[in-house]
Formats: sequence, C-alpha cells, structure tokens
Amino acid sequence: MVNQPLFAAPKGTFDHVPPRAETILAVRDAMAEQVRRAGFGYIETPSFEETALFVRGVGESTDVVTKEMYSFTTKGGDDVTLRPEGTAPVLRAALENNLHRGALPVKLWYSGSYYRYERPQKGRYRHFSQVGAEVLGTEDPASDAELIVLAVDAYRALGMTGVRVVLNSLGSEESRPAYREALREYLRGLDLDEQTAARVEANPLRVLDDKRPEIQAALADAPVVADFLSPADRTHHDTVCELLAEAGVPFEQDPRLVRGLDYYTRTLFEFVHDGLGSQSAVGGGGRYDGLSELLGGPRLPGVGWALGVERTALALEAEGVPLPGQNGLDVYAVPLGGEASRHLFGVATELRRAGVRTDMAVGGRGLKGAMKAADRSGARFALVVGERDIAEDEVQVKDLRSGEQEAVSFSDVVPHVTRRLGH
Ligand code: HAM
Repeated sequence: MVNQPLFAAPKGTFDHVPPRAETILAVRDAMAEQVRRAGFGYIETPSFEETALFVRGVGESTDVVTKEMYSFTTKGGDDVTLRPEGTAPVLRAALENNLHRGALPVKLWYSGSYYRYERPQKGRYRHFSQVGAEVLGTEDPASDAELIVLAVDAYRALGMTGVRVVLNSLGSEESRPAYREALREYLRGLDLDEQTAARVEANPLRVLDDKRPEIQAALADAPVVADFLSPADRTHHDTVCELLAEAGVPFEQDPRLVRGLDYYTRTLFEFVHDGLGSQSAVGGGGRYDGLSELLGGPRLPGVGWALGVERTALALEAEGVPLPGQNGLDVYAVPLGGEASRHLFGVATELRRAGVRTDMAVGGRGLKGAMKAADRSGARFALVVGERDIAEDEVQVKDLRSGEQEAVSFSDVVPHVTRRLGH
C-alpha cells in the first residue's frame, strides 16, 4: 500500500521551499536593506491583536474588517484577530511603549506574516508576508517622498524594472467633508443595490474602491478629491511630487486611487506591476494623520507603506530577473567510509568556522552518488577522502568547474581552500 500524506497546507496558503524560498529571503533582505540605510528601527509586534484594534483602526466598513479577518474568542474569553495588516499594530505598540514621547519622528520597519480570509487566486493568499515601514510624528511631505523612493530603490536593487508608482491625495480632514458630501450627492443619483446605497451614507469613499465593472463605469463622472483639496493639502501633495521628480522617481497621478483601508489621509500611493494579472499591487501605503487619535492616542501624524513579499517574488519571475543562487555552497565533502567521514566531519566544521559554506555527504553514499550530489550542490570544490587518502594523510581537492584534482595534506586543506576561494 502506498502511504498518502494526511495533511496539506490550508487553502489559500502555501509553503516556501528551496530553492524558490531563496527568492523570498532575497526580497525581504533587499527591502530591509533600504529602510535600515535610512535610519528606521526594527519593530516586532504579536501576530494577533485585540479584534477592536482593527475594527477601529482599519475601519468598520472595509472589506478587510467585514469579510477578511481571522477572528476568534480565546479560551479566556478575549476577542482576538490574526493581524490582517501592520499599521494599526505598530501604532498601538508605539503608543503603548511611549516611543512618541522621545525624539520625533519615530521611524520603524517590520517584516512578518499577515492573514486575510480572501478568495485565493494568483498573488492573493490567506497567509502572506509584508515588509513595512512607518514614520510617526511628522507631517513633513519629505517623509512621504522618502518612503516612496526607498520602496522604488528596493525594487530596483532586486533588478525589477516594471514597477509603476501611482499617486493620489485624499486630502486631510480640512478637505474631506466637502468632498464626501459632493461624492455622496453624486452617488445618491445612481441606481445602486441596497448594500451599496447604505455604504454611500456610511462612507461614500469606500464605494470608489468597489471593483465591480458596472460600479466603476457609473463612477466615471464622479467628483474627484483633487478638486476639493485645501491650499495646505495641495502644497503638501505638490511637494511630494517635486521631491519624487528630483529623486528621479517617475510616478503617475491617479485621482481615482483609493485603497481598502479607512485610515488614509492626504498622500496615498500604490506600487503596481503589470506582469501580475489582477493582483497587480506589489505594495502600497499612505498617510494616516488621524489614526493615533482614533486609537485613543495624542495627535501623531504618520505615513508608511507595506510591500508584499510574495507578489514581489512573482513580479521578479514575471520579468525573468535571474533569481539569487540556489544554494551558495563553496565546498562539498565526500567521505568514502566511516573513518573518512570522521576525518572530514572535522574538516567541514573547521571550514565553516573559517566562513566557508560547506556541506558534506552523509549516510555512507558511494562515490558516484556523492559526486553527483556535489555537482548538483553548485559547490566550487569537492573534498574526497577514501581509506588510502587517510593512510597517506591526504585530501583530494577537486575543482568542480575545471575538473582538476590535487592532493592536499589534512593540515593544509583549510588554508588551501580558503586561499583558492579568495577568502
Ligand atoms: P495593503 O495594500 O493592504 O496595505 O497591503 C500591502 C501589500 O501587501 C499589497 O500591495 C500586496 O502586495 C500585499 N498583500 C495584501 N494582501 C495580500 C494577500 N491577500 N496576498 C498576498 N499579498 C497581499 C497595508 O497592509 C497597509 N498596512 C500599508 C501601509 C503601511 N499603509 C500605511 N502604512
């Protein structure tokens, strides 16, 4: 009887396994590198939070809150939710840990798993990972622009060329009421289903985010927020645009861009890749100047983004960017017999301690199978030791590129290999 595994990853989730998982790591590293270079401090928060944090922070009428949260009541009776996003938790943590009482702005970055109960499709999963960055405690448009430039530079560092920056301003609370009213007025004139009509009254901006083609068509003549921006909001937006242009970062303005989270004010942006089909946003973010007060904190304006790690990896694949090395080994050790294995075990340990990436065949493989594994490993050198080599105190060092082989004494093998690798 053939044994069948009893379990598979839950629907909408998957495993990152070698060698592709290396891409995921490389994506995270490239993003982290940019924010660390710009003075962001690393923050880690729990994978779950009190449900009310997201209901308040992300917004009661958003799809994330109404449809996509993994919420449950614990054995102790607490209502908690697996985090669907990172901004509300990071702000919660900053306030709780009084980070905002020190020097401002507070610049924070994070990396981790997020959970949304969405309909799974390519690029849309129920468990995914993000690298995020938030700047708290400043309204300076330089921070908005800095964040956008850092994300673009992360994509560029990965070798991606197909990312577009799409930009909009939603205006502050100064501009929004008049716009909201104009939009509501326009939407009331449309023939909408009951649920959408209720949204018009509760939060008309959410209707702009409705993906149904008939709604999008009906919105063609809807008023745009750009026409309602206060002079201060307009100046803020113009400054962001100027700074991006000076940094050599092309962008497109989309006055209809809205995003699925309610906390945004003023600057709003998305990083879009056209090689991905319908889930084309590889990242996104914006300003959220009112979120702190919504969470019971003081006025603490903020701006940030989160970049989707899996979608970025998909975009790299779509562009055919060469993916990082599969294994990155320098040396593969091949012992022939138990005695040789003991000797080479010591050599492998010493090589690793000297910084040489080394793997070794185990389980008493024959020469042929072990050499095949050595070739597959991508290592530069194979170290082969048999009984006769032990008697002669020698290791056979084979250059797997040229095929040349030479005998080196045991005591000399570590310096010999490190020298040849140029370490
Ligand atoms: P978001 O646009 O919801 O923003 O998510 C950011 C990115 O995460 C998306 O652009 C996408 O690449 C990835 N992502 C989102 N949902 C999924 C999914 N189901 N499967 C795969 N990837 C996904 C936020 O989360 C905000 N917290 C960003 C932010 C930070 N705004 C201000 N600061």
